[in-house]
Amino acid sequence: MTWHKIADSVEEISFSANAMAEVQVAGKTVCIALGNNEVHACSRKCPHAGGILSDGYLDAVGNIVCPLHRYKFNMQNGRNVTGEGYYLKTFPVEIRKEGVFIGFEEKNLFNW
Ligand code: FES
Repeated sequence: MTWHKIADSVEEISFSANAMAEVQVAGKTVCIALGNNEVHACSRKCPHAGGILSDGYLDAVGNIVCPLHRYKFNMQNGRNVTGEGYYLKTFPVEIRKEGVFIGFEEKNLFNW
């Protein structure tokens, strides 16, 4: 796992009204979501048909809802909780004294 700093603090991330944001990190664009005081990260595009997930929102239990066809995904494990059989790539986020960090498995740098 390689950790990359995405911001000095959670407050520094420019979240939309829906508490979503996109950040550039290690040459990739990642979707960031804020829910229940936790920061989550996933691929920018929906695995179904490429919906831009930062245009979606988190539902009451913290699943991300795609803006295109409203499929939902668990932000912990990427499971497609509405049952369509897709899998969303999610990334661990750590909030440390030095800032907010996102973790990529080495192979993800080349694979997504
Ligand atoms: S593109 Fe996301 S649900 Fe269809």
